[in-house]
Amino acid sequence: MGGEYLTFVTDLSAQQTIAKEKTVLTFRKSLPPVLKQVFDYNSNSVDDEYVKLFPKHFQGKALENLVSKMNKCLQNFIINGKYYNEEWMTVGLRTFVESIICPASFVSIFGEYSSSRSDKMTEVERNILKFTDLFPSLIRGYPISILKGATACRQYLWKVLSKQEISGRKNVNGVVKETISLHELYGESDVLPKRLLSFLTATQVNSVPSAIWLLYFLHKHPEANKVAREEIERVLKESKESTSKDVKIEVTNEDLKKMTVLDSIINESFRLHLAPSMFRIATEDYFVEVAELGRTYKIRKNDKVLLWVQMNQMDPDIFEQPEVFQFDRFLNEDGSRKKDFYKNGRLMKCAFQPFGTGLSKCPGRYFAVNELKQLAITTLRFFDIELVNPQAEIKMDKNRIGLGALYPATDIKIRIRRKADC
Ligand code: HEM
Repeated sequence: MGGEYLTFVTDLSAQQTIAKEKTVLTFRKSLPPVLKQVFDYNSNSVDDEYVKLFPKHFQGKALENLVSKMNKCLQNFIINGKYYNEEWMTVGLRTFVESIICPASFVSIFGEYSSSRSDKMTEVERNILKFTDLFPSLIRGYPISILKGATACRQYLWKVLSKQEISGRKNVNGVVKETISLHELYGESDVLPKRLLSFLTATQVNSVPSAIWLLYFLHKHPEANKVAREEIERVLKESKESTSKDVKIEVTNEDLKKMTVLDSIINESFRLHLAPSMFRIATEDYFVEVAELGRTYKIRKNDKVLLWVQMNQMDPDIFEQPEVFQFDRFLNEDGSRKKDFYKNGRLMKCAFQPFGTGLSKCPGRYFAVNELKQLAITTLRFFDIELVNPQAEIKMDKNRIGLGALYPATDIKIRIRRKADC
């Protein structure tokens, strides 16, 4: 392909071996062209230090604080949004989801503008959505200059992510603050907005379409909707009494962990709409064994390797009737999370990896699942939602195949109204 050798790895056990390989098949070495093309910076040793910041800020106590922050933001953007209305309205599901999840996620991580600057937030949101729309074209190598409005949009977001503008916002997440210090330490302050734009993009590109599909499946399948509501009500009832005056519904990280039915619905939705590819580059000749075929394949030094995980998600030998949405596919009979999947009697540890595997595993995965659960909880509690045409077959937009979450091909129409008692 384009004068380079690319090996597609579709065999599951070979994928597993490759994902674990740390020295010969590197993930970081495959990134620089993408970072330069899309975000206009050259990867260097700062990236190694930068990725080490994530576990500290997206796990444990920090994750608990993030859940509480996200909760406030989601409810704030819902209550102050134009769909919080007792009259039925018809709107595109994508339009509705973007108006909540995009600003709530931005504010939770990159901080909030003072209320007098809320029109500024609308402008930030518009530019984030435009940039995520442009992302597939940029990553495929289209020069930014030929994409309408792209240069101005990227420059606008660089300004939003400059140290000066970040300092003017409140409640900025620790990962952003430490990223600023890291750039100062390495004398790379001019690269800060560029590296932060790649992070901002990672927080949005998969979360927004995943949120659309989650709400779609929850309202397409009445049984999934019913069991999800029952679980939410049960867990929140058992949870400690609300102490916060800032939010109508209080949800903690502990509550979210108990919601295994929601986990299963989210995973089943991921299984149907995620189409990522995971790249590696061989720094030496490498031999990979495909046990099922009894063959060993050589990957030459500098060859690219691509793990194609969507094939596993849609493999009928692993997931029976893979094209059908089954809300309880990821639940064991006792209601616990189902993690083990088999192919021809053999346990397939890598059968389902929505957040990647090995070295490049998504550092935002716990936050990502939490924000989806929180969106489901708040929308189910605050709104009545109906699909305008529940029987319509919804196709996927293939534009992002290989990049992650696919969008629906059209903006699915919903009817929405605020519940009378909310
Ligand atoms: C449904 C939502 C999400 C999905 C499905 C997802 C999936 C992934 C996957 C598969 C990768 C690895 C890509 C590769 O191997 O090439 C990745 C990387 C990454 N994700 Fe996520 N992600 C999601 C949301 C998030 C969120 C909310 C954040 C931040 C809070 C985040 C931060 C990142 C970062 C920073 C990387 C790059 C890691 C590195 O350079 O080592 N992601 N994500």
